[in-house]
Amino acid sequence: MTIIDGKIISAQVKQELKVEVEKQKANGGKIPHLAAILIGDNGASETYVASKIRSCEEIGFRSTLIRRDSSTTEDEVLEIIQQLNNDEDIDGFIVQLPLPAHINVDKIIEAIEPRKDVDGFHPINIGRMAKGLPAYISATPFGVLELIKRYKIETAGKHCVVVGRSQIVGLPMSILMQRNTYPGNCTVSLVHSKTKNLAEITKQADILVAALGKPEFITADMVKEGAVVIDVGLTRVVDTTKKSGFALKGDVKFDEVAPKCSYITPVPGGVGLMTVAALMYNTLLSARREIYQ
Ligand code: GUN
Repeated sequence: MTIIDGKIISAQVKQELKVEVEKQKANGGKIPHLAAILIGDNGASETYVASKIRSCEEIGFRSTLIRRDSSTTEDEVLEIIQQLNNDEDIDGFIVQLPLPAHINVDKIIEAIEPRKDVDGFHPINIGRMAKGLPAYISATPFGVLELIKRYKIETAGKHCVVVGRSQIVGLPMSILMQRNTYPGNCTVSLVHSKTKNLAEITKQADILVAALGKPEFITADMVKEGAVVIDVGLTRVVDTTKKSGFALKGDVKFDEVAPKCSYITPVPGGVGLMTVAALMYNTLLSARREIYQ
């Protein structure tokens, strides 16, 4: 059993990006510039955005953080998006989710210029990804693909079961794993809260991607011997023994599932760390105009 080390791989990816940016700078190229819009005071979002900004600094990207309080109106957010869409120096930007309930998230995402949508959330990027055209691939699925690649995990002809159908993870993951490329060429099943006999299906998985957001939902009896288990879950649960008052839990009951696996990602230290690296990668692509000319 191999524990997939997201810490090492994300550090490698970031180091490679740093080298690329240095080369680009030396050649008089554009320094990638990422902007992030953060609305309200969601604790997890604060942490994620801080980590994105810190990663920009480490790699040598420019970054801009635009913060507004939770009373910000939808129109005000749309106005900020228009400014960023038109700002020549900004290569890519993200709107951190979740947004306060009074803001329509679909309207916000559709207002982002697809060329600058480094989160890969815009319908145009999702559509292009589904068609196999060049597109920004959203950070979490991208991070999972990179882990599979760097551990040289075979995927062709394997049964990949994705648990969860979120727009950000489950849905794109299921599309990416069936593509005629590597990683890909899987037979894909996507199971969700209305699936009957869910455990019977997960038990058939050669590659199991757990992305439903229910702490420790996947137990040993739901996993086949020798499976590759990718845990995308990251839920804060109350833990009074921790200084922060919470612990991070994945969707997989790691201690009992791990002994059955050929590969497994831990939480924390697995997929989560890769997502920021993937966003940085997309930002470099945006500065180089690699997806859209
Ligand atoms: N909230 C949780 N994950 C993400 C992400 O990848 N991007 C943005 N913008 N918000 C998120």
